[in-house]
Amino acid sequence: MLILTKISHLETFLSQKRSQGSIIGFVPTMGALHEGHISLIKASKNVTDVTVCSIFVNPTQFNDKKDLERYPKTPEKDVMMLEKAGCDAVFMPDAEEIYPEIDERRFDFGYLDKILEGAHRPGHFNGVAQVVSILFNLVKPDKAFFGQKDYQQVMIIKALVKQLHYPIEIVPCPILREKDGLAMSSRNTLLTPDERKAASLIPIVMNEVNELSRKGTEIPELKKHIEERLKDPIYKIDYFAVCDADTLKELNSFSEAKYHVALIACFVGKIRLIDNIILH
Ligand code: PAF
Repeated sequence: MLILTKISHLETFLSQKRSQGSIIGFVPTMGALHEGHISLIKASKNVTDVTVCSIFVNPTQFNDKKDLERYPKTPEKDVMMLEKAGCDAVFMPDAEEIYPEIDERRFDFGYLDKILEGAHRPGHFNGVAQVVSILFNLVKPDKAFFGQKDYQQVMIIKALVKQLHYPIEIVPCPILREKDGLAMSSRNTLLTPDERKAASLIPIVMNEVNELSRKGTEIPELKKHIEERLKDPIYKIDYFAVCDADTLKELNSFSEAKYHVALIACFVGKIRLIDNIILH
Protein backbone atom coordinates (compact mmCIF):
# COMPACT_ATOMS: atom_id res chain seq x y z
CA MET A 1 0.00 0.00 0.00
CA LEU A 2 1.29 3.44 -0.91
CA ILE A 3 1.43 6.02 1.86
CA LEU A 4 1.09 9.48 0.34
CA THR A 5 1.31 12.79 2.16
CA LYS A 6 1.67 15.18 -0.78
CA ILE A 7 -1.04 16.12 -3.29
CA SER A 8 1.45 15.90 -6.18
CA HIS A 9 2.26 12.26 -5.30
CA LEU A 10 -1.43 11.41 -4.98
CA GLU A 11 -2.11 12.94 -8.39
CA THR A 12 0.76 11.08 -10.06
CA PHE A 13 -0.49 7.78 -8.64
CA LEU A 14 -4.10 8.43 -9.64
CA SER A 15 -3.39 9.68 -13.17
CA GLN A 16 -1.35 6.54 -13.80
CA LYS A 17 -4.22 4.35 -12.56
CA ARG A 18 -6.78 6.32 -14.53
CA SER A 19 -4.73 5.99 -17.73
CA GLN A 20 -4.98 2.21 -17.26
CA GLY A 21 -8.78 2.58 -17.17
CA SER A 22 -9.10 1.83 -13.43
CA ILE A 23 -12.29 2.67 -11.56
CA ILE A 24 -11.32 4.63 -8.45
CA GLY A 25 -13.04 4.06 -5.10
CA PHE A 26 -12.55 6.54 -2.24
CA VAL A 27 -13.06 6.21 1.52
CA PRO A 28 -12.51 9.52 3.35
CA THR A 29 -11.86 9.13 7.08
CA MET A 30 -10.48 10.98 10.07
CA GLY A 31 -8.41 7.98 11.14
CA ALA A 32 -8.64 6.06 14.44
CA LEU A 33 -9.94 3.34 12.19
CA HIS A 34 -12.20 0.49 13.30
CA GLU A 35 -13.97 -2.37 11.55
CA GLY A 36 -16.69 0.04 10.36
CA HIS A 37 -14.10 1.88 8.26
CA ILE A 38 -12.63 -1.41 7.06
CA SER A 39 -16.10 -2.46 5.86
CA LEU A 40 -16.10 0.67 3.66
CA ILE A 41 -12.69 -0.31 2.25
CA LYS A 42 -14.06 -3.79 1.51
CA ALA A 43 -17.21 -2.35 -0.09
CA SER A 44 -14.98 -0.23 -2.33
CA LYS A 45 -12.70 -3.15 -3.23
CA ASN A 46 -15.75 -5.19 -4.28
CA VAL A 47 -16.85 -2.73 -6.95
CA THR A 48 -13.78 -0.70 -7.98
CA ASP A 49 -10.24 -1.40 -9.24
CA VAL A 50 -8.30 0.94 -6.96
CA THR A 51 -9.23 1.96 -3.41
CA VAL A 52 -7.86 5.16 -1.90
CA CYS A 53 -8.44 6.03 1.75
CA SER A 54 -7.74 9.44 3.23
CA ILE A 55 -6.90 10.11 6.86
CA PHE A 56 -7.27 13.73 7.82
CA VAL A 57 -8.67 15.09 11.08
CA ASN A 58 -10.43 18.07 9.56
CA PRO A 59 -10.24 21.05 11.95
CA THR A 60 -12.98 23.02 10.17
CA GLN A 61 -15.73 20.54 11.05
CA PHE A 62 -15.13 20.71 14.82
CA ASN A 63 -17.21 23.41 16.47
CA ASP A 64 -15.77 22.39 19.86
CA LYS A 65 -11.99 22.88 20.21
CA LYS A 66 -11.79 20.31 23.03
CA ASP A 67 -13.48 17.71 20.82
CA LEU A 68 -10.80 18.30 18.16
CA GLU A 69 -7.98 18.10 20.72
CA ARG A 70 -9.15 14.82 22.18
CA TYR A 71 -10.08 13.20 18.85
CA PRO A 72 -8.18 9.87 18.88
CA LYS A 73 -5.14 9.49 16.61
CA THR A 74 -3.67 6.05 15.84
CA PRO A 75 -1.80 6.48 12.52
CA GLU A 76 0.46 3.40 12.75
CA LYS A 77 -2.44 1.09 13.61
CA ASP A 78 -4.56 2.69 10.85
CA VAL A 79 -1.89 2.01 8.22
CA MET A 80 -1.62 -1.63 9.37
CA MET A 81 -5.39 -2.12 9.21
CA LEU A 82 -5.62 -0.57 5.75
CA GLU A 83 -2.71 -2.66 4.48
CA LYS A 84 -4.36 -5.83 5.79
CA ALA A 85 -7.68 -4.88 4.20
CA GLY A 86 -5.98 -4.53 0.80
CA CYS A 87 -6.34 -0.77 0.44
CA ASP A 88 -4.17 0.46 -2.47
CA ALA A 89 -3.17 3.90 -1.19
CA VAL A 90 -3.66 6.05 1.87
CA PHE A 91 -3.49 9.82 1.64
CA MET A 92 -2.39 11.38 4.94
CA PRO A 93 -1.86 15.08 4.29
CA ASP A 94 -1.10 17.72 6.89
CA ALA A 95 -3.37 20.73 7.40
CA GLU A 96 -1.27 23.07 5.17
CA GLU A 97 -1.56 20.65 2.28
CA ILE A 98 -5.38 20.69 2.47
CA TYR A 99 -5.82 24.32 3.57
CA PRO A 100 -2.93 26.43 2.17
CA GLU A 101 -5.24 29.36 2.89
CA ILE A 102 -8.24 29.73 5.20
CA ASP A 103 -11.25 28.21 3.46
CA GLU A 104 -13.87 30.99 3.45
CA ARG A 105 -16.45 29.05 1.44
CA ARG A 106 -19.94 28.90 2.90
CA PHE A 107 -22.22 26.09 1.77
CA ASP A 108 -25.99 26.15 2.02
CA PHE A 109 -27.93 22.90 2.04
CA GLY A 110 -31.23 24.53 3.01
CA TYR A 111 -32.96 22.99 6.01
CA LEU A 112 -30.72 19.90 5.81
CA ASP A 113 -27.73 21.58 7.46
CA LYS A 114 -29.85 23.45 10.04
CA ILE A 115 -31.47 20.47 11.79
CA LEU A 116 -30.21 17.69 14.12
CA GLU A 117 -26.38 17.62 13.88
CA GLY A 118 -26.47 20.94 12.03
CA ALA A 119 -28.48 22.62 14.80
CA HIS A 120 -26.39 21.11 17.62
CA ARG A 121 -22.97 21.51 16.00
CA PRO A 122 -23.05 24.90 14.23
CA GLY A 123 -20.66 25.01 11.27
CA HIS A 124 -20.05 21.26 11.36
CA PHE A 125 -21.52 20.46 7.97
CA ASN A 126 -19.89 23.50 6.39
CA GLY A 127 -16.54 22.06 7.50
CA VAL A 128 -17.49 18.61 6.21
CA ALA A 129 -18.51 20.10 2.84
CA GLN A 130 -15.24 22.08 2.66
CA VAL A 131 -12.98 19.10 3.25
CA VAL A 132 -14.99 16.58 1.24
CA SER A 133 -15.15 18.93 -1.77
CA ILE A 134 -11.36 19.44 -1.55
CA LEU A 135 -10.74 15.70 -1.29
CA PHE A 136 -13.17 14.98 -4.15
CA ASN A 137 -11.33 17.58 -6.30
CA LEU A 138 -8.02 15.86 -5.55
CA VAL A 139 -9.02 12.20 -5.78
CA LYS A 140 -11.78 12.57 -8.42
CA PRO A 141 -13.15 9.16 -7.47
CA ASP A 142 -15.79 7.30 -9.46
CA LYS A 143 -17.40 6.10 -6.24
CA ALA A 144 -17.11 7.30 -2.63
CA PHE A 145 -18.15 5.24 0.40
CA PHE A 146 -19.72 6.60 3.60
CA GLY A 147 -21.13 4.90 6.71
CA GLN A 148 -24.83 5.21 7.49
CA LYS A 149 -24.09 5.91 11.17
CA ASP A 150 -23.67 9.49 9.94
CA TYR A 151 -27.08 9.37 8.27
CA GLN A 152 -27.40 13.14 7.91
CA GLN A 153 -23.81 13.44 6.65
CA VAL A 154 -24.58 11.00 3.82
CA MET A 155 -27.52 13.21 2.79
CA ILE A 156 -25.32 16.33 2.97
CA ILE A 157 -22.65 14.68 0.80
CA LYS A 158 -25.29 13.66 -1.75
CA ALA A 159 -26.53 17.28 -1.80
CA LEU A 160 -22.93 18.52 -2.19
CA VAL A 161 -22.35 16.21 -5.16
CA LYS A 162 -25.55 17.53 -6.78
CA GLN A 163 -24.71 21.17 -6.03
CA LEU A 164 -21.17 20.95 -7.43
CA HIS A 165 -22.07 18.56 -10.30
CA TYR A 166 -19.47 15.98 -9.29
CA PRO A 167 -19.63 12.82 -11.43
CA ILE A 168 -19.25 10.70 -8.28
CA GLU A 169 -21.52 7.94 -7.06
CA ILE A 170 -22.09 8.12 -3.29
CA VAL A 171 -22.38 4.64 -1.81
CA PRO A 172 -23.96 4.52 1.69
CA CYS A 173 -22.83 1.48 3.72
CA PRO A 174 -24.55 -0.19 6.71
CA ILE A 175 -23.66 0.64 10.32
CA LEU A 176 -21.26 -1.84 11.89
CA ARG A 177 -21.93 -2.64 15.54
CA GLU A 178 -19.98 -4.03 18.48
CA LYS A 179 -21.17 -7.34 20.02
CA ASP A 180 -23.45 -5.46 22.44
CA GLY A 181 -24.96 -3.41 19.61
CA LEU A 182 -23.09 -0.13 20.14
CA ALA A 183 -22.47 1.51 16.75
CA MET A 184 -18.75 1.43 15.95
CA SER A 185 -17.17 4.85 16.29
CA SER A 186 -13.68 6.22 16.79
CA ARG A 187 -15.11 8.07 19.79
CA ASN A 188 -15.97 4.79 21.59
CA THR A 189 -12.28 4.46 22.56
CA LEU A 190 -12.60 7.67 24.61
CA LEU A 191 -15.25 6.17 26.92
CA THR A 192 -14.24 5.02 30.41
CA PRO A 193 -15.17 1.38 31.20
CA ASP A 194 -18.29 2.56 33.06
CA GLU A 195 -19.31 4.88 30.24
CA ARG A 196 -18.68 2.13 27.69
CA LYS A 197 -21.05 -0.13 29.64
CA ALA A 198 -23.63 2.65 29.86
CA ALA A 199 -23.29 3.40 26.12
CA SER A 200 -24.65 -0.05 25.26
CA LEU A 201 -28.09 1.13 26.40
CA ILE A 202 -28.30 3.45 23.37
CA PRO A 203 -28.77 0.71 20.73
CA ILE A 204 -31.08 -1.15 23.14
CA VAL A 205 -33.43 1.83 23.46
CA MET A 206 -33.28 2.47 19.72
CA ASN A 207 -34.41 -1.12 19.14
CA GLU A 208 -37.16 -0.61 21.72
CA VAL A 209 -38.29 2.44 19.74
CA ASN A 210 -38.51 0.25 16.65
CA GLU A 211 -40.54 -2.39 18.52
CA LEU A 212 -42.88 0.21 20.04
CA SER A 213 -43.43 1.95 16.71
CA ARG A 214 -44.36 -1.40 15.18
CA LYS A 215 -47.02 -1.78 17.86
CA GLY A 216 -48.47 1.63 16.97
CA THR A 217 -46.81 3.88 19.58
CA GLU A 218 -46.70 7.44 18.24
CA ILE A 219 -43.67 9.74 18.11
CA PRO A 220 -44.35 11.93 21.21
CA GLU A 221 -44.63 8.75 23.34
CA LEU A 222 -41.41 7.40 21.80
CA LYS A 223 -39.65 10.61 22.85
CA LYS A 224 -40.96 10.15 26.41
CA HIS A 225 -39.77 6.55 26.36
CA ILE A 226 -36.24 7.62 25.38
CA GLU A 227 -36.14 10.32 28.07
CA GLU A 228 -37.30 7.84 30.69
CA ARG A 229 -34.82 5.13 29.66
CA LEU A 230 -31.86 7.53 29.46
CA LYS A 231 -32.65 9.55 32.58
CA ASP A 232 -29.54 8.47 34.52
CA PRO A 233 -27.24 11.52 34.84
CA ILE A 234 -24.48 9.71 32.93
CA TYR A 235 -26.59 10.40 29.79
CA LYS A 236 -27.41 13.77 28.30
CA ILE A 237 -29.65 13.56 25.26
CA ASP A 238 -28.72 16.19 22.66
CA TYR A 239 -31.62 15.22 20.42
CA PHE A 240 -33.89 12.33 19.58
CA ALA A 241 -36.04 12.68 16.48
CA VAL A 242 -38.09 10.59 14.12
CA CYS A 243 -37.73 11.84 10.56
CA ASP A 244 -38.80 11.10 7.02
CA ALA A 245 -36.06 8.65 5.96
CA ASP A 246 -35.89 10.21 2.47
CA THR A 247 -35.89 13.93 3.30
CA LEU A 248 -34.95 14.03 7.00
CA LYS A 249 -37.94 16.31 7.71
CA GLU A 250 -38.77 15.87 11.40
CA LEU A 251 -42.12 14.17 12.02
CA ASN A 252 -44.72 14.46 14.74
CA SER A 253 -46.73 11.51 13.47
CA PHE A 254 -45.82 8.44 11.43
CA SER A 255 -48.63 9.25 8.98
CA GLU A 256 -46.60 12.25 7.70
CA ALA A 257 -44.12 10.06 5.78
CA LYS A 258 -43.81 6.64 4.18
CA TYR A 259 -40.37 5.67 5.48
CA HIS A 260 -39.10 6.58 8.94
CA VAL A 261 -35.73 6.87 10.62
CA ALA A 262 -35.10 7.50 14.33
CA LEU A 263 -31.93 9.42 15.14
CA ILE A 264 -30.24 10.12 18.43
CA ALA A 265 -27.27 12.11 19.71
CA CYS A 266 -26.49 11.51 23.35
CA PHE A 267 -23.57 12.34 25.61
CA VAL A 268 -22.31 9.49 27.74
CA GLY A 269 -20.19 11.34 30.25
CA LYS A 270 -18.30 13.87 28.11
CA ILE A 271 -18.39 11.80 24.93
CA ARG A 272 -21.06 12.53 22.34
CA LEU A 273 -22.34 9.48 20.48
CA ILE A 274 -24.80 9.27 17.59
CA ASP A 275 -26.88 6.40 16.27
CA ASN A 276 -29.91 5.81 14.08
CA ILE A 277 -32.31 3.08 13.05
CA ILE A 278 -34.62 2.69 10.08
CA LEU A 279 -38.01 1.88 11.60
CA HIS A 280 -40.00 -1.05 10.26
O1 PAF B 1 -17.20 10.96 8.61
C1 PAF B 1 -16.05 11.39 8.77
O2 PAF B 1 -15.16 10.71 9.27
C2 PAF B 1 -15.74 12.81 8.33
O3 PAF B 1 -16.82 13.65 8.56
C3 PAF B 1 -15.26 12.92 6.87
C4 PAF B 1 -16.35 12.51 5.91
C5 PAF B 1 -14.04 12.04 6.67
C6 PAF B 1 -14.87 14.36 6.57
O4 PAF B 1 -13.84 14.82 7.39
